[in-house]
Amino acid sequence: MSYNLLKGKKGIIFGALNESSIAWKVAERAYDEGAEIVLTNAPFAIRMGEIDKLAKKLNAAVISCDVTSLDDIEKLIKNSMEQFGGKFDFILHSIGMSPNVRKDIPYDNINYANFLKTLDISALSLHKILQTCRNYDAINEWGSVVALSYIAAQRTLDLYNDMADAKAILESIARSFGYIYGREKFIRINTISQSPTRTTAGSRIDAFDSLFDFTDRMSPLGNATADECADYCVTLFSDLTKKVTMQNLFHDGGFSSMGMSQKAKRQYEKSFEDTQEKEKT
Ligand SMILES: NC(=O)c1ccc[n+]([C@@H]2O[C@H](COP(=O)([O-])OP(=O)(O)OC[C@H]3O[C@@H](n4cnc5c(N)ncnc54)[C@H](O)[C@@H]3O)[C@@H](O)[C@H]2O)c1
Repeated sequence: MSYNLLKGKKGIIFGALNESSIAWKVAERAYDEGAEIVLTNAPFAIRMGEIDKLAKKLNAAVISCDVTSLDDIEKLIKNSMEQFGGKFDFILHSIGMSPNVRKDIPYDNINYANFLKTLDISALSLHKILQTCRNYDAINEWGSVVALSYIAAQRTLDLYNDMADAKAILESIARSFGYIYGREKFIRINTISQSPTRTTAGSRIDAFDSLFDFTDRMSPLGNATADECADYCVTLFSDLTKKVTMQNLFHDGGFSSMGMSQKAKRQYEKSFEDTQEKEKT
């Protein structure tokens, strides 16, 4: 159902790779709510992914941008402003990549060149995008920027590796730049800390299935889906949340406030039953 929450608004969506990407769902939902969209992704992702299919559906331009390159970001912002005929209103940063995770290199024997790449792609990119937008005065007053994060920024989760550090920096940049952009232009910047979600990036985390099942059992409302995340993003891009800024907003079915749930306890107790059975035999 559409509420026309983004009627007349324009925005750039980073990170739609394929239909399972969170950014894909956000782009569709924002379009349904009346927004005009520019889609962007790294050149290799545009070649390998399915973004053209989405662009056709949403009547959106696709502009390539590797977020580690300031030149690419500048071109993206300039070209988007041409495309929109001026300033725009919102940005979704839905970007994450760790070469250490990809190559199964553990946190306690990390490759530092990879580590820097993780931070550059997954966290500093938000700063680069914001600084470029500010230099070009690209975002309308009361605009909104949302970046996707994960609870590993606050709590240690086995095997999340250097992405945990990247998310902590990402959330900090949202606060630090949120202060500057807020006081100057009333532009709000928030991160959404999303439940584990089955996507290309998500599934690269080792033991993703157990993590997904654990958080689902622990959350009173269950894991939040990518579609539900898209709904939440739309509210943050809309004028209904004008005074929400510099926040890390948990969108996780309640997981972040839980210690132990009935559902998780029952599952955990089964392992004791198994052990007792084995001990008897
Ligand atoms: N899937 C999950 O469980 C989960 C949970 C919480 C937060 N998140 C976050 O959501 C965001 C989106 O991830 P997703 O799960 O939809 O996976 P995804 O793989 O669909 O999206 C990740 C995107 O990052 C892009 N990217 C990688 N390197 C890039 C570069 N150099 N320049 C530009 N773009 C680049 C990829 O092309 C891809 O489109 C990420 O920030 C991720 O950490 C995901």
